[in-house]
Amino acid sequence: MMREVTAIAHGKVNLHLGVGALRDDGYHELVSIFQSLELRDVVTLTEASPNTGVAGRVVELECATAGVPTDNTNLAWRAVDIVFGRSTQQPPAVRITLAKGIPTAGGMAGGSADAAAALIAANKILDNEFELGELLDIAADLGSDVPFTLVGGTALGTGRGEHLVPTLSKGTYHWALAFSRTGLATPAVFRKLDELDRTPHLDVTALSRALRTGNPHQVAPLLHNDMQAAALSLQPQLRTTLNTGMAAGALAGIVSGSGPTCAFLCEDARAAREVAAELSLSGNTAVTSGPARGAHLKGE
Ligand code: C5P
Repeated sequence: MMREVTAIAHGKVNLHLGVGALRDDGYHELVSIFQSLELRDVVTLTEASPNTGVAGRVVELECATAGVPTDNTNLAWRAVDIVFGRSTQQPPAVRITLAKGIPTAGGMAGGSADAAAALIAANKILDNEFELGELLDIAADLGSDVPFTLVGGTALGTGRGEHLVPTLSKGTYHWALAFSRTGLATPAVFRKLDELDRTPHLDVTALSRALRTGNPHQVAPLLHNDMQAAALSLQPQLRTTLNTGMAAGALAGIVSGSGPTCAFLCEDARAAREVAAELSLSGNTAVTSGPARGAHLKGE
């Protein structure tokens, strides 16, 4: 019988994103507090019949959402290739299906989360041949946000974002999200940021303390994103979106990661629905909450 393994990929928001110096390797030194969100993609690996594909390889990737690469440049495809390539077993040929709930090129680590879920699913096909530590190493090679989307929860990320330490966080935070029609490419936003005259914000002491209270009113004024100025400069209309969300009752509004998704922290789930309803007059929105889990198998 053909085997099918389904994994859940959770998106993220950066509660704090401090961008330090540009390093020699082209990456920026970051100090970030990540929170995973219930907002999710679903990643399914299906064994292909031996006569349609090469054993140990991805045969094809299907995704109904426009703008998602369906070849081996997709991080989920690469994730499966790497795990199967390192295996001492003889992995089957597989096809990948992505069902997207996380916006593409939206600053919510959708592609990274898909890769993390693909790592978990590919490992399951291999009867969990690899330990979490090995998967985390592969994740860091795939992209800076992939390790966090693998572990989830709330975490402090340093280095290029791949060095993670769990952060104590109490309670559940409720978010309204406003998506943008056009995405932003992360490297372009970093390049824009390097042109700006700015002081990096690398201290997360106050935010870490506030997260332990579980009180969104204490957390809200401490949300911060150094990349926001660059994202706003590339998509100036985001300022209107931020103002609209605040006028609708959000406690705080920030650009998520490299943008252009705007994330609004709200007092509770009802307030988040109200803020999203107001924002939906001018674009696509979602309500979600965090912290959620990292990538995991469906039903586990
Ligand atoms: O690690 P990832 O491949 O997701 O990064 C995409 C791009 O984002 C990098 O090529 C780099 O231009 C930029 N980046 C950065 N500093 C980081 C993470 C990413 O400049 N810490």
